[in-house]
Amino acid sequence: MKFFVDTADIDAIRELNDLGMVDGVTTNPSLILKSGRDILEATKEICDLVEGPVSAEVVAVDFDQMLKEGEHLATIAPNVCVKVPLTWAGLRVCKILTDNGTKVNVTLCFSANQALLAAKAGATYISPFIGRLDDMNIDGMDLIQDIRTIYDNYGFETQILAASIRSANHMKDAALMGADVATAPPAVISKMIDHPLTKNGLDQFVKDAKEAGIKIV
Ligand code: E4P
Repeated sequence: MKFFVDTADIDAIRELNDLGMVDGVTTNPSLILKSGRDILEATKEICDLVEGPVSAEVVAVDFDQMLKEGEHLATIAPNVCVKVPLTWAGLRVCKILTDNGTKVNVTLCFSANQALLAAKAGATYISPFIGRLDDMNIDGMDLIQDIRTIYDNYGFETQILAASIRSANHMKDAALMGADVATAPPAVISKMIDHPLTKNGLDQFVKDAKEAGIKIV
């Protein structure tokens, strides 16, 4: 499973990128707001830092303006992936951009039917929002499983990008369900390493190494 980082915080991206944990980045208007950055500048900087796709989201909801925005975002760098909402206007823009060779991430997916439409429109990625479904007591992972089944049934090449990931368990479950990608905030990726037995075991080894006087170099 590929890891995308769900942030516009360049320092956090750099840190994880140096560890080889970044296959791509996703942003959205809320993350841009949080960063306090200009979307075009921030996207360019992230695209220069990261080799993989960097999702930058349109803000218009009507077709004409959305297409203009998508085409403009696509000029920022070759690894920009234009993010459009799961609406008919978004799917129209998706079809045009993908036909022109631009990667498109269709976002705000909450149903298997929506994912089916996005695949038909040629989306590179579909972003089902796990956490926001969980917030409504609907199991977001069931949606990932349904989309996986549907895409596999028909050989759709659209990649499932599990989004709105809120916990390390979400990462594990997305991997078990066969999501192609999961995008998570840096704090969630950092948490994935935690296990109390690792910490306790290491504390003991450090103590014993000291007592044994072990010196390697
Ligand atoms: C990423 O593409 C999504 O915009 C993001 O994961 C949404 O996450 P949230 O539901 O925590 O805002």
